[in-house]
Amino acid sequence: MGKFLSLLFCILISNLAGLNAQSCETAAFRNNAIYRTCVSLPVLNSHLHWNYNTNGTVDLAFRHTGSATSQWVAWALNVGGSGMLGAQALVALTHPNGSVEAYTTSVTGFQTTLQPSRLSFDVPTITAERVNGVVVIYATIVLPSGGTGFNQVWQVGPVADGVPSIHAMGADNRGSVGRVDFISGQTSAGGGAGGSRMRKRNTHGVLNAVSWGLLMPMGAMAARYLKVFKAANPAWFYIHAACQTSAYIVGVAGWATGLKLGGDSVGITHDAHRNIGIILFSLGTLQVFALLLRPKPDNKYRIYWNVYHHGIGYAVITLSIINVYKGLDILDPEKKWKHAYTGILIGLGVVAVLLEALTWFIVLKRKKEDKRTHAGANGYGQPV
Ligand SMILES: *[C@@H]1O[C@H](CO)[C@@H](O)[C@H](O)[C@H]1NC(C)=O
Ligand SMILES: *[C@@H]1O[C@H](CO)[C@@H](O)[C@H](O)[C@H]1NC(C)=O
Repeated sequence: MGKFLSLLFCILISNLAGLNAQSCETAAFRNNAIYRTCVSLPVLNSHLHWNYNTNGTVDLAFRHTGSATSQWVAWALNVGGSGMLGAQALVALTHPNGSVEAYTTSVTGFQTTLQPSRLSFDVPTITAERVNGVVVIYATIVLPSGGTGFNQVWQVGPVADGVPSIHAMGADNRGSVGRVDFISGQTSAGGGAGGSRMRKRNTHGVLNAVSWGLLMPMGAMAARYLKVFKAANPAWFYIHAACQTSAYIVGVAGWATGLKLGGDSVGITHDAHRNIGIILFSLGTLQVFALLLRPKPDNKYRIYWNVYHHGIGYAVITLSIINVYKGLDILDPEKKWKHAYTGILIGLGVVAVLLEALTWFIVLKRKKEDKRTHAGANGYGQPV
């Protein structure tokens, strides 16, 4: 029952993650441009979409929805500070005649009228469009000083006589600051609820930690420790098969999200984590099919099949746990997640040790009784 609840939980989490990301990810762009990462910024109906290139450039699209006909929209990095002063801004200015002008401006004072000027970093291309009230600034920027994480700020304001004028001072206009990291896709502190890539990484982490990292070992324990109880025969087999199959299904989903993440990431590879993942998928698949090919219990080859099945099974569990830790190192979430996983493993370990002792106790006792009654082995409870 617990396994199935976990399964439902996983599916729910992955769907929620998908739904959340949708408003950001379904946006369409000029020339069908595709941006691998997007962040819905927390205020002012704004979204940032981008592709990070290994040469340190970023192709980005800043999208503001619900724009008035005559308005300016700006998105900026603040390399040396934060907030408005020092902002290196990309501006889109919608004129009353409907044409949209795009340019850069370096903000040096609060009285700025956002006149075009050079930025502290290169902006090889910048254009903008306004379609159905959605303004998009398209630009390529050369990330300054080799960094990938910066303070960002974005803003929307009125245009008077063709000149940008001071923006409103509502809570949203003051809260439009935060941080963005162009590699991890992570944003923070008033900078949005985490990028789409971050959500995908978290989904991948949850799916795999729960399936390979927890359900698999629990299913193996069910097989090993329920088997000894006569009353649990053949229920243990169905519990084991159900656990491992659901773990496998969720695990394959998690594995696929990992492949997608790997394919999308530019310049960063996690070879060991990826290779172990591929080995795990292969061994896991082998186990599922081995189930269908197992000889009958009294077949003379069954013993070899058992050795094979147990060997691969323990290898899968060991590799799974190693890979969950590798994944946790890559994902680098708050420490408590790693501690939680370690805690659960220790808990399972303690339960396993107790059940192991109980199993041997029952088996030895049964052997003794069998000897006394000269009844011989009854076929149950060999703890192998
Ligand atoms: C950087 O890489 C992108 C994508 O590969 C490419 O389009 C662009 O021309 C490169 N820019 C420079 C300055 O090398
Ligand atoms: C629209 O107005 C702006 C500013 O007055 C001007 O620079 C631009 O050329 C105009 N565009 C068209 C298509 O009339």
